[in-house]
Amino acid sequence: MAEEARLVKDAMSAEELLSAARALTQGETDTIANMANLASLVWHGLEGLNWAGFYRLQGDQLVLGPFQGKPACLRIPAGKGVCGKALSTGQSQRVGDVQQFPGHIACDPASRSELVVLVKKGDDILGVLDLDSPRQNRFTPEDEALMEQLAGLVQGS
Ligand code: SME
Repeated sequence: MAEEARLVKDAMSAEELLSAARALTQGETDTIANMANLASLVWHGLEGLNWAGFYRLQGDQLVLGPFQGKPACLRIPAGKGVCGKALSTGQSQRVGDVQQFPGHIACDPASRSELVVLVKKGDDILGVLDLDSPRQNRFTPEDEALMEQLAGLVQGS
């Protein structure tokens, strides 16, 4: 088994996830490669997800990037859906019940809760990291803080 695969297992603690994320991105500056491995890490390491991945900011839209889960919406304009709200407000969005979120974009009707954090380079927004769960209130403030740290590794560690 390759060293990269050894870093991933089911039900990882926050410390394990962060340490694996640092190891996976160490010395690599290609953002798409890092997004791909981080999406895989989150998908395997966190339980209760039905989608985990990135959208990259291209012009004024979020465009689908590396992810794990079912095929998803390709483009999200700023201000639309949970991802677009994170982009337009510059703030993470943790939604306990997406059916109560006005304008939620249901790429997968099974999704019930969602966490979106920004991917930044200094003050510039590069995109978002988006997690979906089929369970309401799946995501905690601790998950939000952890995903913010993880998103900071997209440019390498
Ligand atoms: N639900 C998101 C769209 C992206 S998918 O969940 C993968 C939103 O409302 O922005």
